[in-house]
Amino acid sequence: MVVEPAASVPPLPALHAVPEHVAIIMDGNGRWANERGLRRSEGHRAGAEAIRPVLERFGQHGVSVLTLFGFSTENWGRPRPEVQSILRLGGDFIDSHLGELHEAGVQLRHLGELERLPGWLQKRVARAVKQTQGNSRMILNLAFNYGGRADIVSAVQQLIAEGVPAEEVTEEAISCRLATAGLPEPDLLIRTGGEARMSNFLVWQATYSEYYFTETLWPDFGPAAIDAALIEFGQRQRRFGLVSNDGDEDDD
Ligand code: IPE
Ligand code: IPE
Ligand code: MG
Repeated sequence: MVVEPAASVPPLPALHAVPEHVAIIMDGNGRWANERGLRRSEGHRAGAEAIRPVLERFGQHGVSVLTLFGFSTENWGRPRPEVQSILRLGGDFIDSHLGELHEAGVQLRHLGELERLPGWLQKRVARAVKQTQGNSRMILNLAFNYGGRADIVSAVQQLIAEGVPAEEVTEEAISCRLATAGLPEPDLLIRTGGEARMSNFLVWQATYSEYYFTETLWPDFGPAAIDAALIEFGQRQRRFGLVSNDGDEDDD
């Protein structure tokens, strides 16, 4: 038997700033498979296998919340066999990693409409969320059947159901009814796979996120690619609509 040498993991680089919350649009599984003459479902399998090491690397850097977009509300429109394979892989991910993630102190959360997922997957997700709810080392949000607009619509429906008067409908009132209630907004939003769009991800929450687009296809997104994204984040200057302190221009 030939034993493959373990892929070398580069040492952690020093960073200028570490994002507290990183959100990722995990795109490019289909193209990864096409390039290899494989079925799209094989690309999704490779994509699912990429998740654990990615979580590990971000955790080592000190990131405390990782949100992964795994299935969008629009992805139901894909051919049925592909949808089935993605749903199955979601369940398999929980089955094979729940125990170990729990041991590692990871809290799993679900973002999106759970009710539309098949019953067997709802049960797995609910069990994973319940079992890990007391963990605090890192939060892993699985955005599965998630849509940013649906998230906002749901928040507005809650406001109406609670009878909140119009003058109390504030940004804060909406934020605290979104799927991400109580979490910091994403500091860094990464999209793999070369497209530069949101595809209905965290449309409310990512208003002031730093965006990072990479050509790397999701199954290839490993430690070196993660480090490159974090190094670039550390070089960004976040202003939130204000003026920076270090400029020497004076307009008054
Ligand atoms: C991302 O990969 C996974 C999901 C959207 C579920 P894609 O399946 O979109 O891969 P590409 O974009 O076709 O390469
Ligand atoms: C976004 O990717 C959704 C996920 C990665 C889960 P898509 O592949 O569905 O996005 P579009 O169709 O290219 O905008
Ligand atoms: Mg895609």
